[in-house]
Amino acid sequence: MRRVRLRLVRGVEVEFVDREVALGQLREVAERGTRFPLVVYGPEGCGKTALLRQAVEVLREWGYSVVYVNPLGEVAERLVATDDLKDVVKRTWREVLGGVVNPAAPALVDLALAVVSRALKRGKKRIAILADDVFQAVGLDRVEQLVKSVLNFIEYPPADYDSVVAVVASSEGVTRSRVGRHDWASLRLMWNMSREGFEELYRAMPGPKPPFNEVWRWTGGNPRYLGKLYESGWDPAVVARDVAKGRGLWDFVKRLGAREVEWLRRAVEDPDALYDGEAPAALVEGLVEMNLVVRLWDRDPRGWVDAPPPERDLELGIGRHYAWQTPLHREAVKVALESSA
Ligand SMILES: Nc1ncnc2c1ncn2[C@@H]1O[C@H](COP(=O)(O)OP(=O)(O)O)[C@@H](O)[C@H]1O
Ligand SMILES: [Mg+2]
Repeated sequence: MRRVRLRLVRGVEVEFVDREVALGQLREVAERGTRFPLVVYGPEGCGKTALLRQAVEVLREWGYSVVYVNPLGEVAERLVATDDLKDVVKRTWREVLGGVVNPAAPALVDLALAVVSRALKRGKKRIAILADDVFQAVGLDRVEQLVKSVLNFIEYPPADYDSVVAVVASSEGVTRSRVGRHDWASLRLMWNMSREGFEELYRAMPGPKPPFNEVWRWTGGNPRYLGKLYESGWDPAVVARDVAKGRGLWDFVKRLGAREVEWLRRAVEDPDALYDGEAPAALVEGLVEMNLVVRLWDRDPRGWVDAPPPERDLELGIGRHYAWQTPLHREAVKVALESSA
């Protein structure tokens, strides 16, 4: 299997590493196709985009014609297709979008769907559509539509086919409740990387660096935060402050009542505090929506892409029912709590 090359930080490229379980799952998916579109949800920066880019390769090797769309990605990577579709993409681009060089997000998603539809009509038997970060790009309502259109392809294809694979990735906290209440998609969670895989990326970082254990404890195996930590000169306080700033955490904490602040403190100690029936619902929802914590259902491997996180690891902020996206996210909340105390 060819491994895609990925940019970790400016000047550092690596080959796709680890995620052996996920690659095995992908091969299974390739064999059977997806009955329902798979919606993959996981912490920001855990590696969803990397996996989808690698999935293009895996599926291609299984004889699929693949369209990957990422309206928020770098311009050259917003629409990627296997060679056999290059033609279809070009023509569809011209006919559907009038050749606009840099289409807006919704148009790009429509384009990807049109390409899939035409590919089927042209007799392609194995088709995959991988839609990355479309929730952020086109909004939840349109994604509902998108997923339903994909489901329509699967159920009522415009032409005969062998198998269709549809995957949608998102790190928006609300994806879960929004998609979960319908029965037209199967939701899968993805977590940060394994220690071994993450260590390979750590080793690829140039220059002097703190011991691996420290970096692991700060990032919890999240490769994007490895990059951010590196760019900060390995200063977790800088990264935590950036997370707090980006999410307006000082204002968020300021608006909380005394009881909510108390629960937030508990959640910093142990995220499972959020599972307590007494925990204020608005606080829990806020933390999920701000992409700070993730609700974990169970560790049944069938509900996960790649391996689920450990049952409980309080040092990394992982509880049985809830987890901080990374220890740095928890640290950001701590910082906001301290400065408002
Ligand atoms: N398995 C992997 N091998 C190598 N690099 C990875 C892997 N997973 C993620 N990365 C890198 O880590 C960073 C964050 O990953 P990304 O896929 O963008 O996260 P997400 O899409 O979940 O927000 C990117 O620079 C990406 O290239
Ligand atoms: Mg991504």
